[in-house]
Amino acid sequence: MEKFIINGGRPLHGSVHISGAKNAAVAILPAVLLADSPCVIENLPQISDVKTLLTSLSELGAGVRIINKSTVEIDPRHAASFIVTKEMAQGMRASSYFLGALLGRFCKARVAPPGGCDFGVRPIDQHIKGFEALGTRVIIENGMVDARAASLHGASIYLDVVSVGATINIMLAAVKARGLTVIENAAREPHIVDLANFLNSMGADIMGAGTGVIKIRGVEKLSGTQYSIIPDQIEAGTYMVAAAATGGDVTVENVTPKHLESIIAKLIETGAVIEEFDEAVRVRMPGRPRACKVKTLPHPGFPTDMQPQISTLLSIADGTSIVTEGVWDNRFRYVEQLTLMGADIQVDGKTAVITGVEHLKSAPVRAVDLRAGAAMIIAGLMAPGETVIEDISHIDRGYELITEKFSSLGADIKRVNDYGAPAAKFA
Ligand code: EPZ
Repeated sequence: MEKFIINGGRPLHGSVHISGAKNAAVAILPAVLLADSPCVIENLPQISDVKTLLTSLSELGAGVRIINKSTVEIDPRHAASFIVTKEMAQGMRASSYFLGALLGRFCKARVAPPGGCDFGVRPIDQHIKGFEALGTRVIIENGMVDARAASLHGASIYLDVVSVGATINIMLAAVKARGLTVIENAAREPHIVDLANFLNSMGADIMGAGTGVIKIRGVEKLSGTQYSIIPDQIEAGTYMVAAAATGGDVTVENVTPKHLESIIAKLIETGAVIEEFDEAVRVRMPGRPRACKVKTLPHPGFPTDMQPQISTLLSIADGTSIVTEGVWDNRFRYVEQLTLMGADIQVDGKTAVITGVEHLKSAPVRAVDLRAGAAMIIAGLMAPGETVIEDISHIDRGYELITEKFSSLGADIKRVNDYGAPAAKFA
């Protein structure tokens, strides 16, 4: 098992290049199965979730050719299997997108239930409700979700909760269905818009992505395309918060500032100084951060995927902050790790009360999930002395070359194996 060792207590300085968005990539890769000719996908992040999906596509029969580190050509024409096993899904949430993509392609799909980060119960009832409205029979048997339709037809679907996954899965299943599908109370995240743009570039007819009502008029066929994935909003936010939390001065490059509005607004409340450029944002923190209130919400609200990172920053703020989780039942599992580093945080249900301390202290901690792991890195960078982070495979699921990127900002962070030797960088 590999670990990160961080010698913290120094401000981050410099600029960092943001990679393609994980949560767009993991929707777009399964969507390639809907095309009738090869697709070239650019700006793919080098993260383990992408590697897992490329392997799954290849096991389904698609041709996968790596063109360079962030570009891949996928030829879906010979994909013949509609089964995604537990081994192929490897505990990823995004494996559920094969349900929508395979249904759209073959009118049948058999997929191991999705895994992913543990935030309490993660149901897929809204995905199933959508598939059923499109004419699919869905049963769960022998640990697999089995979805079959004689043919798919458009339908009007109202989502009971704003769900990124259900919105994406219904788009994938509906894009070649007969007639008009309307998704109401749809999720509006940038990766929903990116998927719609990708599908439209293949010939789909999708309108309204980015609003609460998405209209999908089914088309007969989708053709291969060349498409570049949007920058990762959460990776950018993570480096922005790390800059502020260490009292640094960092420019995050290759970003879409519009996607970062809620994060920028909250950082300004904590006292950070932000400059926005066309494709970059500079973050400086001139003094001790100020306490504030944060509530996570679906986009355009403050993203739940930034909640552990901002809470870590607030752990050294002047005053008491209130952080309310508005998306997941249980996304405070990392708090126990942060308190090992001296943070003063009381969690009651979906609310954390954070009483700012002057400094965090280095300690051995664990990455309990992906963004919690990013938060532990930020905490390690803030705390003087040596912090060791275990269970870092969670972090590799979503952050490209994270030790290299933080090192380029002046951080002392290294990846070591069980014997303390430097480990090969993740690629
Ligand atoms: C996506 O998960 C992201 N994952 C998550 O990011 C992110 O936290 C989440 O959206 C919210 O923004 C990917 O894009 C791969 P949801 P998803 O369906 O689609 C409830 C990260 O760190 N719900 O929008 O699984 C659910 O319980 C990851 O990158 C139902 O009740 O999230 C939750 O409370 C972690 N029934 C809420 O909706 C359903 O059928 C939002 O979930 C589906 C969801």
